[in-house]
Amino acid sequence: MTKKTIAVLPGDGIGPEVTRAAIQVLENIARLHDHEFVFKEGLIGGSAIDEKGGPLPLETKEISAASDGILLGAVGGPKWDRLPGANRPEKGLLEIRKALDLYANLRPVKTYSALIESSPLKKEIVADVDFVIIRELTGGLYFGEPKKREEIDGETQAVDTLLYKESEIKRIAERAFQAARVREGKVVSVDKANVLESSRLWRETVDDVHDSYSDVELSHMLVDNAAMQLIAQPTSFDVIVTENTFGDILSDEASMLTGSLGLLPSASMGSTGVGLYEPVHGSAPDIAGENRANPLAAISSAAMMLKYGFGMEKEAEQIEAAIEKVLAEGYRTSDIAAKTDDAVTTTEMTDAVVKAL
Ligand code: NAI
Ligand code: MG
Repeated sequence: MTKKTIAVLPGDGIGPEVTRAAIQVLENIARLHDHEFVFKEGLIGGSAIDEKGGPLPLETKEISAASDGILLGAVGGPKWDRLPGANRPEKGLLEIRKALDLYANLRPVKTYSALIESSPLKKEIVADVDFVIIRELTGGLYFGEPKKREEIDGETQAVDTLLYKESEIKRIAERAFQAARVREGKVVSVDKANVLESSRLWRETVDDVHDSYSDVELSHMLVDNAAMQLIAQPTSFDVIVTENTFGDILSDEASMLTGSLGLLPSASMGSTGVGLYEPVHGSAPDIAGENRANPLAAISSAAMMLKYGFGMEKEAEQIEAAIEKVLAEGYRTSDIAAKTDDAVTTTEMTDAVVKAL
């Protein structure tokens, strides 16, 4: 029997609904495999602001740091949109990534054969899409200093700084080459080296790291071209590694290949060994509280926690197979249903996955 402590940070909007679904699946996996999962809940985002005055209370940080893995829902919503930058829901996410040094964000993009028809792209383009985007998560524009507004010559101006240290590039490149070794052995590093100095350092450093991974095929691509190739030939990719901002945009673009945000999981991993697992989607305030959210992205994120965080590959595969099965059987939440009348609820979808396990 393996005992694991899991920090659960439901957050806002549909966050609590989809994390509840993931917990239900994890509890069943634990029962089937004789593991013990202990869940410790913490506040994050808007709900933490409302109850504790800030988006990442100290208790949440402590519960998270002491856990073996963190399962997060989503944060944010219109209620908190007008708060100043330092006290906004997403600040809670940025802070926990920084606190746990979660520098590598993994987003697998894979089409489910049962859902090919719901992709906005042609079938023959998206069939067999299977790649992973590894996005650097703790550097670049979102964190670089200076980051401020100022008045100069009577005019307001604002500055953000795109800064990368060699060591930050090195460690994310290593993650990418390691990931490629257990996949198809191909890395595409995405940058804007024709205009950005930080991208030139990125490219040189990735090339240096590649010397120790010569069994992996490496190519470089400019980000604007990568944005096109993701749509034109998505099956050509295996592992994509890129900096924070480019990764944010490309991974949302890539998520549309599969048809719905409600299906895509992510993992953020770092130097402490505690990873954070969350759906790619946000808090979906438009459907929150209606038992309509697709829980599969959160459930898949839980599977990533088992695989990457706990080394429980078999259990993770069992969850993935259960998801494939319910989709093949025709279960569809409203985001992926052809007609809303045919849609199942969040809880019905979750129960179906549990039954398929
Ligand atoms: P969103 O991902 O929350 O929603 C976009 C659209 O997709 C909406 O129509 C929503 O109903 C639908 N959708 C998303 N997840 C779904 C699911 N599981 N099942 C069915 N439909 C789903 O993105 P949006 O609307 O841009 O942002 C809403 C809030 O979420 C904002 O406050 C934003 O800041 C926050 N957000 C938080 C993220 C996080 O916590 N990691 C990531 C992205 C946005
Ligand atoms: Mg995004």
